[in-house]
Amino acid sequence: MNSNRSTGVAILGLGTIGSAVARLINQRGASIGELYGLDLKVTRILERGPERAARADLPRDLVTTSLDEILSDDGVSVVVETLGGESPAADWIEASLKAGKHVVTANKEALSKNFDRLQRAAHQSGSALLFEASVGGGIPLLVSYRQILAANQITSLRGIVNGTTNYILSQMTTAGATFDDALAQAQELGYAEPDPTADVEGFDAVYKLSILASIMAGTHIHPDSIERTGITGVTPDDIASASAGGEVIKLLGQATLIGGAVKASVGPERVSADNLLAHVRDNYNAVELVGDSVGPVVLSGQGAGPDPTASAILSDIVEALTSGASSNVPWKV
Ligand SMILES: NC(=O)c1ccc[n+]([C@@H]2O[C@H](COP(=O)([O-])OP(=O)(O)OC[C@H]3O[C@@H](n4cnc5c(N)ncnc54)[C@H](OP(=O)(O)O)[C@@H]3O)[C@@H](O)[C@H]2O)c1
Repeated sequence: MNSNRSTGVAILGLGTIGSAVARLINQRGASIGELYGLDLKVTRILERGPERAARADLPRDLVTTSLDEILSDDGVSVVVETLGGESPAADWIEASLKAGKHVVTANKEALSKNFDRLQRAAHQSGSALLFEASVGGGIPLLVSYRQILAANQITSLRGIVNGTTNYILSQMTTAGATFDDALAQAQELGYAEPDPTADVEGFDAVYKLSILASIMAGTHIHPDSIERTGITGVTPDDIASASAGGEVIKLLGQATLIGGAVKASVGPERVSADNLLAHVRDNYNAVELVGDSVGPVVLSGQGAGPDPTASAILSDIVEALTSGASSNVPWKV
C-alpha cells in the first residue's frame, strides 16, 4: 500500500514547459515518493480545450477552462503557472495564493512586473510563491542566491541570462555569421521564437534582471526602470573589432549597488576573452554574483528549454510542499 501523502498539482498552460513538467512528474513520481513521501500527481489542467491533454498523455477530463474550478478543488495543493505573459497570469497567480494554493511559476514577465504585489500575496496567504525557473531556467540560481544572501550583501551581479541572443552572438563570433543568418539558424533549431522581439530586443533579459536586481535591492526594481539595448544593431564589424582587441561581445544584464540604490542595465558589452563569461556559448547562461564576504561566485547551466526548466519547477514543487518557505528568497513585506 502506498502511504505517501497524495498531492494534486494543477498546471495552468500545457505548452512547451507545462507539458514537460507533467512528463517529469510522471517520470520522477516513484523517486519523489521514496525521497519525500509525496505522491505527486497532475490532477487538473487549465487549457483552451480537452484535446490539449494529449500533449502530456494525460486524460482529457483533467482539462478545464475555469480557474475557479481549480481553486475550489481541495485536492489541488500546488498550482504551476506556465501560461506566459503578464495578463491574466499575474492575477491568476495572486488568486491562487489567496485561495491557499502554493504557486510555482516560470513566468518572468508576470513576476518582474508585479514582484512586490505577488510576494505580498504569498506572505499574507501563508502559501509559497516559488519562481526558480523564471530566472535561470535549469540553473539553481535563486537557491544559491539565498544561501549567499544570508551572509553577504550582494554588491553587484552580471550575467548572460538569455540563451537565444547568446546563441546568435556565438554564431556571429565563431562562424562569422550575420545577425540575420544567425537568427534564422536559431529559429530553425528552436532556440528562437518565430517572433524573436522579446529575446533580441532584450526584454526577456530585462525581466530576469529585474527579479535578480529586486532581490539584491530588497525593493521592487520594475523592468521599465532598467536601461535596455538589444542585439539587432550588432554588426560583423563590431564582432571583428572586439575580437582584434581580445574581446567578445555578449548581451549582459548588470546590476550594481551604489549608495544603497541599484543601477541596472541590459545591453551588448565587450568581455575579455579570458573572462569566464566569454566561454559561455550557445544557449547556455551564466551569472556572476559578487558578495562582500564570499567574493565572486559564477553559476552556469542551461537557462531555458523544456527539460532544464521543468527540472527547476519540479524542485520548487517539492520545496513548496516540504519546506514551509513562502518565497525562494527573503522578502520584506
Ligand atoms: N520555453 C522555455 O524554454 C522557457 C524557459 C523558462 C521559462 N519559460 C516561461 O514559461 C512560460 C511558458 O512558456 P512556454 O514556452 O511553455 O509557452 P507556450 O508553449 O506558449 O505554452 C503556454 C500555454 O498556455 C496556454 N495559455 C496561455 N494563456 C492562456 C489562457 N488565458 N487560457 C488558457 N490557456 C492559455 C497557451 O495556449 P495558446 O497557445 O492557445 O495561447 C499554451 O498552450 C512563459 O512564462 C515563459 O517565459 C519558458
